[in-house]
Amino acid sequence: MSKQLQEAARRLAASKNILVLTGAGISADSGIPTFRGKDGLWNNRRGEELASIDLLLEDPKLAWQWYDAMRVLIAKNKPNPGHLALAALEKMRPDLALTTQNIDGYHSDAGSRRVFELHGNFWRLRCMACGKMDENRQAPIKELPPKCACGGLLRPDIVLYGEQLPVEALEGAFARARESDFCLVVGTSCVVYPAALLPQAAKRNGAFLLEVNPENTQLSEYADMTINGTAAAVLPKLVHALQS
Ligand code: APR
Repeated sequence: MSKQLQEAARRLAASKNILVLTGAGISADSGIPTFRGKDGLWNNRRGEELASIDLLLEDPKLAWQWYDAMRVLIAKNKPNPGHLALAALEKMRPDLALTTQNIDGYHSDAGSRRVFELHGNFWRLRCMACGKMDENRQAPIKELPPKCACGGLLRPDIVLYGEQLPVEALEGAFARARESDFCLVVGTSCVVYPAALLPQAAKRNGAFLLEVNPENTQLSEYADMTINGTAAAVLPKLVHALQS
């Protein structure tokens, strides 16, 4: 095991309050493209248009074609060893709080229970007329855009460009960041706010900041350690080091 991993595991074992922040990179090993990587979703189309509240209001059918394609892709794939390692770590460490920017639901599917979904979840659909919210795993959805029993338009319970983040998830995440003494940041470019502020809030609280990412990011200069590797390769080794 590398010296870096040994030191990271030592620090993790000595910690009392873990905050984890994940981004699209942890699902890359499940076959889900990231947003800004070389094959990123936002590269050939402006993401702010595709995943914007304006498009949903102007052209719900077009918006839903993108949502449905993403739901089909997510349904066809599954959590990877990176997600499973974080679920195993939560079982060992009830103090662990997992905050994610991802909307694929893979952390819960992998067994994580204390998940703050800062950008929502593709599998929950909300009626834009009556507000009714239901879990819906149909992929593909037969008729787009889907309608509620009340006749209203259904939308995914995700944060679209131009919308606010869910206050309860955000407040919970920052409260945990302020108490944490170990912050693990996995697979995010840390360029989207306010999620990108979480590691800095933890660091201001004196937390050890560990980043796992094949590339350096805007966070790397603040991190106490950056392990340049994939989540699926690094996280299982880190958790295994704790168990040995
Ligand atoms: N393991 C770990 N990290 C990886 C892997 C991997 N296998 N592959 C790529 N990465 C890293 C990339 O180096 C990059 O730093 O994952 C990061 C992905 O960055 P983005 O595509 O910007 O995704 P993310 O940071 O999650 O975006 C945040 O932006 O568009 C919004 O709402 C959207 O939640 C998203 C937010």
